[in-house]
Amino acid sequence: MDNLWKGRLVKSLDQMAKNFNDSIHFDYIMFEEDINGSIAHANMLGEVGIIAKKESDEIIRELEKIKQDIKNNNLQIDFDAEDIHTFIEAELTSRIGDIGKKLHTARSRNDQSAVTTKLFLRKKINEIKHGIKCLVGTVVEIAENNIDTIMPGLTHLQLAQPTTLAHHFLAYNAMFMRDYARFDDCLKRLNTSPLGAGALAGTTFPINQEMTSEALGFTNPCFNSLDAISSRDHIIELASACSILMMHFSRLCEDLIIWNNQLFDFVVFDDAHSTGSSMMPQKKNPDLAELIRGKSGRCYGNLMSLLTMMKGLALSYNKDMQEDKQPIFDSVDTVLQSLDILTEMLSKITFNKQTMLMACEKGFINATDCADYLVGKGVPFRDAYKITGELINFCINENKTLQEVKIEDYKSFSQYFEKDIYDAIDLIKCVARRIKGGGPAPESLKNQIDVSKNFLNNL
Ligand code: ARG
Repeated sequence: MDNLWKGRLVKSLDQMAKNFNDSIHFDYIMFEEDINGSIAHANMLGEVGIIAKKESDEIIRELEKIKQDIKNNNLQIDFDAEDIHTFIEAELTSRIGDIGKKLHTARSRNDQSAVTTKLFLRKKINEIKHGIKCLVGTVVEIAENNIDTIMPGLTHLQLAQPTTLAHHFLAYNAMFMRDYARFDDCLKRLNTSPLGAGALAGTTFPINQEMTSEALGFTNPCFNSLDAISSRDHIIELASACSILMMHFSRLCEDLIIWNNQLFDFVVFDDAHSTGSSMMPQKKNPDLAELIRGKSGRCYGNLMSLLTMMKGLALSYNKDMQEDKQPIFDSVDTVLQSLDILTEMLSKITFNKQTMLMACEKGFINATDCADYLVGKGVPFRDAYKITGELINFCINENKTLQEVKIEDYKSFSQYFEKDIYDAIDLIKCVARRIKGGGPAPESLKNQIDVSKNFLNNL
């Protein structure tokens, strides 16, 4: 295939240079979006009268055929072409001759590539949004089934206060719903049409940018041509949303990996989601959760690549910007795969509720409740905190839990302790009293589940 620029340049591109310059081996996946952009452009050229209506009709008809042919495997992509845009145009011209050559009137590959990438990423964002929606639904189910599943809440990875499994998962749903909003926001800012911006300075032809923008489902055309073809902040923003979502996934996976450790034994992964060892016959490893945690790293790397690639580029287009595609394609693919795997994994996971409850017996997880009890009797919190601390020291020396301490011993620490202290430090009651501040009390959890449900119902 001849280079597009044959005319000005006498020699053809050196083979090694060509391989380095070409982008078709990664941008071919946008063939459908490239064709859709071209159809909108051709239609506008015909409607406005820049080319004859008959000609635009023929171009559109053939572009539709090319699209179907690629989809049905009747047309192989020529990986010798420079990029997907060049390939489609060359194929069109080889099929309908000179009329095909008119398609690129009032257009540059700069606005073409920008619009194609936006259309492609818009599709991917919608897939991601759908995936998050399914995940939030799965988490709601887990939460509804585990409102009473008491487990230790941790700070510093140390036993801290009792909470519930539903509470823990609903924390992740709060993050996932914000992730959804972030992708939605990306979509809003991304959804402006660069078509018509040309190479950098618009066009002398009387194009109708509103028409192509509307036909392609954009909210409006970009108003500055330099910005339209040389900005990639929508891609960086998307890479950032992907990174933040993967960070949330990574934390959840880390929780699950810890809970799956034999010393915790809170969760069991389905065998279909676990792997063994090549040497140790007893092993069952949580590889999928580990991989999701690991893949967050590639998303961070992609974000950093994009930010660094853009930072020193003088306006407007520079070929550096062709490097925007692989990182963002990788980030959205990583997110989509991780979403599917995580949702599936969570829907098949088993929780060892009894083990979780028993874990709360250790670590004086109800110590705050003991202090709060004294506060209820009129002791200032700081004093109540100190008395309870001394009591815990006594328990450690006597190898007792707070429940096992006799009432006489309680009284030796404070006259305010009465028999109802045992009620105050009962785990179920400790949880049930945590109504305020978004805590794990059943009535608070019901509100939190409603937040997730309202989110799902209003999508
Ligand atoms: N494949 C190129 C890209 O993605 C197309 C744009 C080429 N534009 C140019 N001025 N050489 O950036």
